[in-house]
Amino acid sequence: MTLSDSSIINKNLDRITLEAEFPAYKSSIKKAFEAGQAHILDWWDELTPTEKTNLLNRISTINFPLIKDLFNDTLLKVPQPAQGNITPPQIIPIPKDDAEKKIAQRARQIGENSLQKGETAIITVAGGDGTRLGINGPKGVFPITPIAGKSIFQLHAEKICAIQKRYNIQIPWYIMTSENNFPATQNYFQSHQFFGLDSRQVRFFNQGMLPVVDLQGNLLMDSKSTIVMSPNGHGGIIIALREKGILDDMKMRGIKNIFYHQVDNVLIKIADPLFIGYHVMDGAEMSLKVVKKSHPEEKVGVVVNVNGRLHVIEYSELSKEDMYAKNKDGTLKYNAGNIAIHMISIDFLEKIHQMGEAIPYHAAIKKVPFFAEDGSIVNPRKNNAVKFESFIFDILKYVRKGVIMEVIREEEFSPVKNMEGENSPATSRQDMINLFGRWLRNAGFSIPADHQGNVIGLIEINPCFALDEEELRNKVDKHLQFNGNLSL
Ligand code: UTP
Repeated sequence: MTLSDSSIINKNLDRITLEAEFPAYKSSIKKAFEAGQAHILDWWDELTPTEKTNLLNRISTINFPLIKDLFNDTLLKVPQPAQGNITPPQIIPIPKDDAEKKIAQRARQIGENSLQKGETAIITVAGGDGTRLGINGPKGVFPITPIAGKSIFQLHAEKICAIQKRYNIQIPWYIMTSENNFPATQNYFQSHQFFGLDSRQVRFFNQGMLPVVDLQGNLLMDSKSTIVMSPNGHGGIIIALREKGILDDMKMRGIKNIFYHQVDNVLIKIADPLFIGYHVMDGAEMSLKVVKKSHPEEKVGVVVNVNGRLHVIEYSELSKEDMYAKNKDGTLKYNAGNIAIHMISIDFLEKIHQMGEAIPYHAAIKKVPFFAEDGSIVNPRKNNAVKFESFIFDILKYVRKGVIMEVIREEEFSPVKNMEGENSPATSRQDMINLFGRWLRNAGFSIPADHQGNVIGLIEINPCFALDEEELRNKVDKHLQFNGNLSL
């Protein structure tokens, strides 16, 4: 008898009996057995009636053939260099001369007008498990600001408050969560009175979840009655926007474009009018901010054209030759590091939905605790599991018109990914302090730095006091003396 034999009898029950007992779940039970995943019912006889129903409900949400295909297609595939004719894309540079500054000024005005007309919404994707950071609960509640210890969510909320005040507007803010962190995220905002925002402008929605499998493709359990589920990647936003009615809500509110960002970038310039302006000015479908790569082998996706279409090539897919290819002036040929800040038009999202094409999934091999056969919880030391995720940038292949705008990494990108080392809370705090330090220095104050250029001391500037360097210069007390610890 094989695992996929439809008459298989697992430890405690057979399929026919189970189907007869729960006719409403007949087809889901059949699919689970046929996919060789009957072990998820190994503890059936020990479950309470509620646990049984919950487990069957969960099973009914799982697309077993899809999981099997994903496991075979994604996991067993070795990353290949990207195929096709790869060329560097056209990039809007950081304005240097008067002509470029004039274009930027025009773009900013267009962006400000668009914001004032209420055409832009903000979407924060905050559904990730934050495995590398290793905290329980949503990453957004992690305390991050250098002095006050405000959370990442509070920091974003205060930036939104500040921009709303500046333009006398209200910007709808949509926050994507996973099933795992939805209640904690919503409760967190409620218990903090939405950090001064109007609760009606903030809407939370859940992304889809997929089961996590072991390295042989078997679904993992985290208790006798629960299957380990994981959010389906930031690309899950595409389906969730439609399924959760968010796109309809946006259209009803007259939204034309969304400003997309990831929760963990603490330097994000939320709803940046300049970026919005370039996107609107060009009638773009999807736009991207990029930074120069720090070195050829930096593990960051690179924005390129493949056969004339925009594409993000993951570092593992970039051939060594392309990785090190140089322009005549010695700069890297493929140098546009994707920092996951996008403008996306609602019409484009509609187009994707109408096409009905699925965006691909990628496999991520991770360490995932699981419920073992002997009834114990195992915390593996080595990677033991596969999560399937879709990526937002995979929709780029459908983009006919997109804008790529270069920004300065130190001003706009510092994600919190790991508990220690690079991209950690410590580096993000220092990046915030350094940014504030530069604003103050440019305003004429003396701010000491060490030999690596890091500010010596602590600085925190509330977005409501100053959202940018110009606002700081206009507001700051000219007699201020920096004594190593400054909160404004
Ligand atoms: P990452 O891919 O860095 O994942 O997500 P993560 O969950 O934050 O951390 P690890 O990989 O488990 O350590 C980048 C952004 O995309 C969001 C995250 O919340 C983060 O803002 N994201 C990721 C989702 O919203 N959903 C997902 O399924 C995955």
